[in-house]
Amino acid sequence: MNHEELLSKIFAMLTRGTADRKSPLHTPTVATKGADGSPQVRVVVFRKFLTAERSLIFHTDLRSPKITELRADSRVSWLFYDPSEKIQFRIKSEATIHADENDALKLKQWQATRAFGRRCYMGEAPSRIAFEATSGMPAEIENREPTIEESEIGFPNFAVIAAKITSIDCLELYASGHRRSFFAWNQNDELKTDWLTP
Ligand SMILES: Cc1cc2nc3c(=O)[nH]c(=O)nc-3n(C[C@H](O)[C@H](O)[C@H](O)COP(=O)(O)O)c2cc1C
Repeated sequence: MNHEELLSKIFAMLTRGTADRKSPLHTPTVATKGADGSPQVRVVVFRKFLTAERSLIFHTDLRSPKITELRADSRVSWLFYDPSEKIQFRIKSEATIHADENDALKLKQWQATRAFGRRCYMGEAPSRIAFEATSGMPAEIENREPTIEESEIGFPNFAVIAAKITSIDCLELYASGHRRSFFAWNQNDELKTDWLTP
C-alpha cells in the first residue's frame, strides 16, 4: 500500500470507529498537557470524524479539568489500537472547544445525544472531592431516563472538542516485519509523508 491508500484506509477505519460501538477504535485514549506539566491521559468515546476537516470529536463536561488544560495548551494526542487489524495510530491534533450556547457543532452534537447519556451533564461538576462514593447525578434520575425537557439543564455543561489532526504515526504489525508510516500536515494543510523504521 502506498501512503495515499494507507491514509484512505486510516480515515475509513476512523469513520467506522465512530459508528461501531464495539470497535476498539470507539474508545481511544486522549492525552493533554496537565496543569503540572505532566501528561494526562484518559479514555473517551470517539463520537465523530469529519474527514474533510480532519477533525476528531469527543464530548466532555465544560467543568472538567481537561478543559482548563486545553485552554492553556490546545494540543491533544490520541492513541488508537485495533488488535484485529494489528494497527496502531498515534495522532497529534489541535483542539477547539465548542461550548457557547449558539455554537452550531455543540447544538448538533447535543441534539444527537440521547436523554440517558445527557445525565452526566445534569449533576455536580466532575473531579471534585465528595463526602462519599457518588455518581454526581441528581438522585431522582439515577435509576431512570430523564425526559428530554429535564435533560436540557445539562446543556450549559456540555462541550464538544473538535481536534484537527496535525500528524499520524501509523504502525502496522506483520509477522514478516512491521511497517511504520508518518503523515504530517503543515499550517497550509499540505501533507508530507514518510516511512519510518518501526
Ligand atoms: C469507556 C469510557 C468512556 C469515556 N468517555 C468519556 C467521554 O466521552 N468524555 C469524557 O469527558 N470522559 C469520558 N470518560 C471518562 C474519562 O476517562 C475521565 O475519567 C474523565 O473525563 C475525567 O478526566 P479529566 O479529569 O482529565 O477531565 C470515559 C471513560 C471510559 C472508561
